[in-house]
Amino acid sequence: MVSIIKKKSSRISENLVTDEKLYRQRRQFLKTGIFSSAGLSLATYFPTLAMAALSELPNRISNAPRTRTLEEELNTFEEITTYNNFYELGTGKSDPVENASALITDPWSVMVEGECERPGTYTLEDILKPHDLEERIYRLRCVEAWSMVIPWVGFPLADLIQRFKPTSNAKYVAFETLYDESKPLPGQKRQNLAWPYREGLRMDEAMNPLTLMAVGLYGKTMPNQNGAPLRLVVPWKYGFKSIKSIVKIAFVEQEPATSWNMANAREYGFYSNVNPQVDHRRWSQKRERRIGEYFKRDTLMFNGYEEEVAYLYEGMDLSKNY
Ligand code: MTE
Repeated sequence: MVSIIKKKSSRISENLVTDEKLYRQRRQFLKTGIFSSAGLSLATYFPTLAMAALSELPNRISNAPRTRTLEEELNTFEEITTYNNFYELGTGKSDPVENASALITDPWSVMVEGECERPGTYTLEDILKPHDLEERIYRLRCVEAWSMVIPWVGFPLADLIQRFKPTSNAKYVAFETLYDESKPLPGQKRQNLAWPYREGLRMDEAMNPLTLMAVGLYGKTMPNQNGAPLRLVVPWKYGFKSIKSIVKIAFVEQEPATSWNMANAREYGFYSNVNPQVDHRRWSQKRERRIGEYFKRDTLMFNGYEEEVAYLYEGMDLSKNY
């Protein structure tokens, strides 16, 4: 991966600013308003959302209650949607937004296979229907030493996995991104990665409550460049583990092959937990640049999620580049 840091863009459209201001105000209201002060669940006020059809998705996303906050400033919608890594749409940071229309997300289905009782092909609607959506603010730390704070909307991956009833042989979950050899996306015409993009998690990592299946951000449906219509978010790992535009989920017994590890195993491990003590072979991981900020900040162990995930790696030597 190349490491080019773009300065904060000053080109923010009037609409976007207004939109974002309203968004922040509304969220602030939801956070501190009558619902929370009365100790009532927001779900009480937005019933039946779980059963709404796909056409209702934008509505469900914009009404998703915030369940996780962070005392750090959010990156802007513009930053989050114009500075991306999505090699299927090109390797430059602005290529994904420029080529976003090449990714067709309707219709969309996900193939589920391997060690589970309910394999099959599920439409996006099947996948989303039973899940209540929530908004969670997470840090995203890219292995290239930049980071952002993003308000994702999604649901726990654990809840989805449970529906497929994995067997006791399922030790890992493998994911794949869209790849049609006869109609490659612009970036897939180059073989800089072995397509399809592949990622994987150990079963207990996949079941951790922090692991999110995201369908939107900033209260809007997931932009193509951020991995529409369905992407993983694993906030304590380097960003490349958070695979975009998922079309396949496989329950497997052995550690699955993953794209960046296949491309360069010495630089990109299977686990790839954020760890400021373990440098990348070509640069330090001790500090990071938050997009939009000038000075670098310290990188936190497990990207700041140590309390919630450190137990998963007890007994493992974290000084090794896993
Ligand atoms: N998923 C796919 N399919 N293709 C990619 O190139 N890039 C990864 C990850 N998921 C990537 C991907 C990397 S390196 C990062 S840092 C994050 O997506 C970036 O997510 P964002 O663009 O939404 O910030």
